Amino acid sequence: MTNHKEALRAKAESRSALIGIVGMGYVGLPLAAEMAQAGYTVLGFDVSQRVVDTINAGVSHVQDVPTERLAGFVKAKKIAATTDLTRMKEPDCIAICVPTPLSKTRDPDVSYIVAATESVARALRPGQVIVLESTTYPGTTRELMLPALQKGGLEVGKDFFLAFSPERVDPGNPRFNTRNTPKVIGGITPACTEVTRALYAPAIETLVTVASPEAAELVKLLENTFRSVNIGLVNEMAIVCDKLGVDVWDVINAAATKPFGFMKFTPGPGVGGHCIPLDPHYLAWKMRTLNYRTRFIELAGEINAEMPEYWVSKVVDALNDAKKAVRGSTVLVVGVAYKKDIDDLRESPALDIMRLLERRGATVQYHDPYIAKVDEDGMTLTSLPLTAQTLRQADCTVIVTDHSTLDYALVARESQAMVDTRHVLADRKAR
Ligand SMILES: NC(=O)c1ccc[n+]([C@@H]2O[C@H](COP(=O)([O-])OP(=O)(O)OC[C@H]3O[C@@H](n4cnc5c(N)ncnc54)[C@H](O)[C@@H]3O)[C@@H](O)[C@H]2O)c1
Repeated sequence: MTNHKEALRAKAESRSALIGIVGMGYVGLPLAAEMAQAGYTVLGFDVSQRVVDTINAGVSHVQDVPTERLAGFVKAKKIAATTDLTRMKEPDCIAICVPTPLSKTRDPDVSYIVAATESVARALRPGQVIVLESTTYPGTTRELMLPALQKGGLEVGKDFFLAFSPERVDPGNPRFNTRNTPKVIGGITPACTEVTRALYAPAIETLVTVASPEAAELVKLLENTFRSVNIGLVNEMAIVCDKLGVDVWDVINAAATKPFGFMKFTPGPGVGGHCIPLDPHYLAWKMRTLNYRTRFIELAGEINAEMPEYWVSKVVDALNDAKKAVRGSTVLVVGVAYKKDIDDLRESPALDIMRLLERRGATVQYHDPYIAKVDEDGMTLTSLPLTAQTLRQADCTVIVTDHSTLDYALVARESQAMVDTRHVLADRKAR
């Protein structure tokens, strides 16, 4: 009888294992690149024909994987992509990196995980390792995936292996990437953890194992809840300081000189992206099913969600100082991506700020070097060039995203009125 664990270990050693990645987006494509870099051959699966065609043409749609790098792997036949989900029987290891959004009622939408698991289950054969990487609530791997995968009669930990390993990629981070960010693994059985570790080890510098998939699922939720809560705290501190007439940045920068027991977080327009505003709700939802209310998560979510309204009130004040009403004024938003130096607009607080301003009758314009067009909820706008003329014709400029490449001296000089949600102007002056 084949010892699948040992066979997979040997395939990892010789890099002859075929790595399948389901969902070739912000998480899946960088993982594919690291697996290929380690010497594996990667077969990417995606339901989007456009994504598959782009990858097979050697063109990257994810900023963190330069096109030249991807093109090299595609040319060397180290990375290919397909929409043919029946080919899932081919890979030895399948990493699932599909989206985990929230529904309209802010409950977890695990339909993408369910769909991907069903595709994997239909093709499952002995000797495969399935790793869920999508952020989700504790219990997903064991309660949702395992029964579906076991339906065909294969035994977990012996015939096939199942683990959760959260992706921690921080898009646009110049220092930490998929390869050098330690990766957590929690398998259903010790053999599942071991095999996953063996397969990932050539591609990821540091692997950290935990006792179960639930622990691994919670690691990711703790990390993102930690950020959400601390951002919420510092945003509240910004409001407190504003009411007291104290410069919050003066306070934060001085507090950050404490060499222990303090970690610097900075206030801003709110939180955005696919992680911080969403992930804590996965945990809150799960705990609601157990009759427990996660109060920190809810409070931080509330405060962060109120920040766009706070900054719009600052625009109102700035216009008021110039004897102008919001209605009829032109407001230029500088930076709309959810954080600096990336091209991702998902959940960006800039969208809320723009919507709130439009609702009050302002004409909203924007500039973002990474986002050429905004087409959201009936708002269709094109990025304007950041010129003296663009700045001068607006009644107020709001800096929402502090992209590194922008000419903030020009913004400061030419704007009629200014609201700086990121403290970028003062920071640059101080340097
Ligand atoms: N983006 C980040 O910074 C980040 C960081 C850490 C973790 N995560 C988590 O990773 C997961 C993926 O996020 P992402 O940002 O890469 O999403 P994404 O939208 O960039 O990519 C997901 C891809 O999956 C494809 N897809 C959807 N359903 C599919 C299916 N059934 N079969 C095959 N392909 C399918 C989509 O077409 C898309 O190309 C989420 O759970 C997210 O929370 C994201």
